[in-house]
Order: sequence, then C-alpha cells, then structure tokens
Amino acid sequence: MELNLFSPLTIRGLTLKNRLVVSPMQQYMTPDGLVGNWHLVHLGSRAVGGAGLIITECSAVSPEGRNTLFDTGLWNDAQVAAWRPVVQFVQEQGTRIAVQLWHSGSKSSHRHPQEGFTLLPPAEGGWIPKGPSAGALDDGAVAEAMTLTDIEQVKADFVAAGQRAVQAGFDAIELHAAHGYLFHQFYSALINRRTDAYGGSFENRIRLLVETVQALRQVLPETMPLLVRLSVVDYSDDPRAWQLADGVQLSAILKAHGVDVVTASGGGFVQVPPSTVFPSYQVPMAQRVKAETGVITGAVGVITEPDQANYIIAEGQADLVLMAREMLRDPYFPLRASRTLRLATEIPAPYKRAF
Ligand SMILES: Cc1cc2nc3c(=O)[nH]c(=O)nc-3n(C[C@H](O)[C@H](O)[C@H](O)COP(=O)(O)O)c2cc1C
Repeated sequence: MELNLFSPLTIRGLTLKNRLVVSPMQQYMTPDGLVGNWHLVHLGSRAVGGAGLIITECSAVSPEGRNTLFDTGLWNDAQVAAWRPVVQFVQEQGTRIAVQLWHSGSKSSHRHPQEGFTLLPPAEGGWIPKGPSAGALDDGAVAEAMTLTDIEQVKADFVAAGQRAVQAGFDAIELHAAHGYLFHQFYSALINRRTDAYGGSFENRIRLLVETVQALRQVLPETMPLLVRLSVVDYSDDPRAWQLADGVQLSAILKAHGVDVVTASGGGFVQVPPSTVFPSYQVPMAQRVKAETGVITGAVGVITEPDQANYIIAEGQADLVLMAREMLRDPYFPLRASRTLRLATEIPAPYKRAF
C-alpha cells in the first residue's frame, strides 16, 4: 500500500490518524510545573488543527531535573490533575498525546529565557546542577557528579513520572534523551568522564538510558508506546563525539528493550554551523536509523511544507514527521496540508464550511 502523510499508523495499542506530529516545545509558562489555560489552548488548538500526535514539551521528573522554574513537570499529583483536562481535550479531537519526560542534568537551574537564561544560583531559588561528571558546562554552571544513589533516584523518578503519566491519561511517553540533557550527557563521551559502570565504554555510557527504559517498560501498560528522542550525532569533530553509527547502534538496542519509536534529532553541546541547517537536514539520519534498525522512526528539523512532509512518508524515509516552529506559525498546518495535498482528513464539524 502506498503511504502518505495522512495514512494512519498503529504503535502497540495506539492508532494515530496521520503521520504529523507536533514536536515538543518548551513554553516556560508553568510556575510549579502546573499546566493551565495556556497549555489547554496552545496544545488544544494544535489538536483542533488536526495533528495525529502531540508530544508535550519536556516535562521534568523531579524539581531538580528542571531547566528553569517555569518548566512543566510530573513529579506530583497536583501536576497529574492539571494535565488531565488538557489531555482529555486533545483526545476529544481525535489527536493522541504523549508526554515528554526529562531531566536536564547539568543544564538545570537557569533563569527564565526572558531573564537571560543565565545560571540561577541557590541563593535565588536555584540549586547545584548534577550531571554525569563534575565540571563547568555552559555559562559558568559548575555541575556536581551524580553518585550511584543519585542515579538510582533518577531512574525511580522516571518510573514514578511514567506512572503519573498513565494516571493523567496520556497515550504514550517519550523520553527526552537528546539536546545535551541528562541522558545525552551520559551517552556522549564529550561530557561523560565517569570511570564507574556508567562511564567509559559505549555500553556503560548508554546504561542509564537503557536501565530507565527497562524499568519503565516494566510498569507501563503493554499497549502503551514508549518513544525516545535521541541526538544521533553531536555535530562535533571532536574524536570523542557521538556519531551517527553510535546513534543507530543505540536505536537498535533501545528497540530490543521495547522502545517503539526513535526520533532522530541532533546536537546539544556545540553550536551547529548555520550551513548544516537546511530543509530536511536531519531526514537522512532518520532514514538510516529506520533502514538499519527497523524501529518506527521520526524525522525532525526544518520541515515546513506539505509536499516536503508528504515526500518523507511516501518515500519511506521515516514513519513520522515532527514539526516544531511551523506548528507555532500555523497550528492548523495538518488541515492546510490535507487541502493542499488533496488527501482527506477529518475536519472539525464547526470548521467544515471553510473547507
Ligand atoms: C520554542 C521551542 C522549544 C523547544 N523545546 C523542545 C523540547 O521541550 N523538547 C525537545 O525535544 N525539543 C524541543 N525543541 C526542538 C524541537 O522539537 C525541534 O526538534 C526543532 O525545533 C527542529 O524542528 P523545526 O525545524 O520544525 O522547528 C524546541 C524547539 C523550539 C523552537
């Protein structure tokens, strides 16, 4: 059967009505990690707009896993209750919703982006960031190295947040293991200088992510998809940097441990040269992950046009198309794409006269 952007996709017990995914986007709109009216309208309008799947912004599994004091979270029951109406509204539109769970590691404790995104010191309500290794990371942040007890706690926090995601009614969970945050800090030798079971060899550096996946898979319903976003490359010439072959190998291992979808993103530690970033620039990486592992694969990065998105699916380059900034510009992109491409999709009843 020939596939297109509006072909449904079943992942475990979940069927998406099309291949268009709202890529996770931090909003910095939630003091105490509690979503409210902003998220109801922001995510709700993208559901009305016809996306098959929305992946929420990165949501912290613990207060110290936050980037800023304004990130969403799933570390307490009040946050579960706050997510419920948002999740329900999205699902009522026929859109499915995954929560992106995350720990920012040594990138934690920063000021709000509108206040410069600089380090927030403990004296001002911040905390000392912890990552795989002690040392300076960015903008003067000096992280402490996580102890083995800290690592056990992180895994337990992901499991507890996963269970809360089920209680909140989410359809799926995505682990944010990209963009220089905790999991990526562990698996990239650019940052990880540990000498214990969580550092050194490839197998040791991916251990935290693999063990978290294993622990989560044990508590999640069999029918619930588990997604992982990876930085499949570090975009660095440093000989220690993570390369696409590493990203492919890790994707295969994650698949064997019950991960259903891998989204192939990149970078997080070094500035990516502008010449590297052009329409569909990360699609070949997704294509390789898909071809070499057979895992359901998401492509992301400067995908903005209906034809461009449809081509990725029709050519079998990836199974899902994730769009971030274009979905900010146009929450109704999926409805527009269906019209442009002349591919049928369900139009919300009150909007039918416009289509
Ligand atoms: C405002 C904004 C916030 C973002 N926040 C997240 C996030 O919470 N989690 C994540 O994995 N990626 C995040 N990203 C990255 C996007 O999901 C996406 O990978 C990137 O923007 C490239 O896609 P695009 O070219 O369609 O924008 C964010 C991007 C933007 C523009």
